[in-house]
Amino acid sequence: KRPIRIAVMGAGGVGAKFLERCLEWSDLIEVDRVLVRDPSKRRDHPLAAAFTSDARNFVRNDVDVFVDIGTGVSPSAELLEGFLKAGVSVTSANKQAVAASGDKLRAAAKASGAMLTYSASVGGGAPVIEALKRAVKSHKVKSIAGVLNGTSNFVIDQVESGKSFDAAMDEARRLGFAEPDSTADLDGTDVGAKLKLLREIAFPGLTPAHLEVGQITEESLIIPTGKGLRYVARCYLTEQGLQASMKLEVLDRDHYLVGARGEQNRAIIELDNGETWYVTGKGAGAWPTTESLLADVLQIARESKLSQ
Ligand code: HSE
Repeated sequence: KRPIRIAVMGAGGVGAKFLERCLEWSDLIEVDRVLVRDPSKRRDHPLAAAFTSDARNFVRNDVDVFVDIGTGVSPSAELLEGFLKAGVSVTSANKQAVAASGDKLRAAAKASGAMLTYSASVGGGAPVIEALKRAVKSHKVKSIAGVLNGTSNFVIDQVESGKSFDAAMDEARRLGFAEPDSTADLDGTDVGAKLKLLREIAFPGLTPAHLEVGQITEESLIIPTGKGLRYVARCYLTEQGLQASMKLEVLDRDHYLVGARGEQNRAIIELDNGETWYVTGKGAGAWPTTESLLADVLQIARESKLSQ
């Protein structure tokens, strides 16, 4: 047996924790190279020799897995496609990159036989993608409803308990839940990418005719007594086709989605055989995302029999 050899993109909030875990598990995982903007800032890092800013020569088939912890579409999308084309399996926590180039990435994976995984892109530590992938193996999905953004959920709860909107957002940034540009957590950008990724698995080939997108503002956080407020993403089949929305919804206090506290994520998946699946977990933060990335790396190793 030899360690799983990986190339990593990104060493920011999540990336730093991921690398920390890789060092602890160095008998299992070997970090071959890490793409960062400025390697000179990392001279003291135990993996300093592996840091590079050379994106042009980063894609090579000398690793087993490429781990994308970048933000924004580029260069993650190009790197993901490049590695897949080179026959290297990938896992991505970058929902924007996978949502923007899903078709290309699936085609590249199909052509080379490499695996495309992105469990950490939706739900953080909540296994929403894993549950959906399992569900569609034997059933048709009728609907998905979920709380998919930890930052906004955390802010709603904090505001409910008396904190100001701005102080709650600051706290979400400090705790590493928020996006680098945290407007993405409030205007549907983050949830939109996640909903697209779920929709592509649950309803392949179908696109909603209309997507209703709500925003979260300080003024919009009005919670009627005895009720719960959640930013809910939905995608469901009707006789008129696929419908989708993501917006603040007032729900009963005992609703499963209201039970997603703080940065938790939750999802409800309804299947055509009458079953309803409930998924929950820590939705945002460096450690839940790291755990989800590592689970994908280990799954790739197992399925491609790397460590045997
Ligand atoms: N900013 C995101 C959130 C991170 O708050 O849910 C996890 O995708």
